[in-house]
Amino acid sequence: MAEIIGIIGAMEEEVSTLIPALEDHTERRIGIVTYHVGKLDGKEVVVARSGVGKVNAALTAAEMIRTFHATVIVNTGVAGALDESLEPEDAVIATALVQHDYSTAPLGDPPGRVSGIDLVYIPADPAISVAAENAARELGVRRVLTGTIASGDQFISDPARKEWIRRTYGGLACEMEGAAIAHACTLYGVRCAVIRTISDRADGKADVDFPTFAVRAAARNAKIVRKVVSAIR
Ligand code: ADE
Repeated sequence: MAEIIGIIGAMEEEVSTLIPALEDHTERRIGIVTYHVGKLDGKEVVVARSGVGKVNAALTAAEMIRTFHATVIVNTGVAGALDESLEPEDAVIATALVQHDYSTAPLGDPPGRVSGIDLVYIPADPAISVAAENAARELGVRRVLTGTIASGDQFISDPARKEWIRRTYGGLACEMEGAAIAHACTLYGVRCAVIRTISDRADGKADVDFPTFAVRAAARNAKIVRKVVSAIR
């Protein structure tokens, strides 16, 4: 069965270099999201800008799976570094995703455990994550780390919150959609990968670094994603 690969970015800059590369491009708008269907380097894809945050991302993933029959979803975009060895334009590939702002801990659950799937760490597809790591290295990315990415409905710029997320979950980077996409994919039994390039250090300077580095980081990340899409089988 030919795979149909969903590619989700939260912001325009995260998908804007991929959409013009589509062959046989058609569009369908559902709600506020436009789904771009076509072929990317010979692979059937559907590309969309979900909007920022976990609900937007999960709904877009569900729509891609239910309406566009995506069999794999790749999340592309930028992230804030939690690991101090990371700099803007380095890459982080998720082996697992955690929702850092999800907690029923006062009721005795581990922080981050998601009701229904009963997981704190939601796994990404191992084969696609390895392909992403290889693709980033082939593209000459300075530093490529694989591990946990922490998602939440917060732009992280408070050093105390950053430290809490890192200490609690061991995350390498933070962003606002990956774990929601992994959550939706787990519910539907669809493979998923989260590939991110660092735009800032999730610290007190993140509000300045993000607008400085996000466009370049997003475009670099899209190059990694394109190579990964070619490798998916
Ligand atoms: N995406 C990029 N940088 C981020 C940050 N500091 N917090 C959350 N999401 C981000």
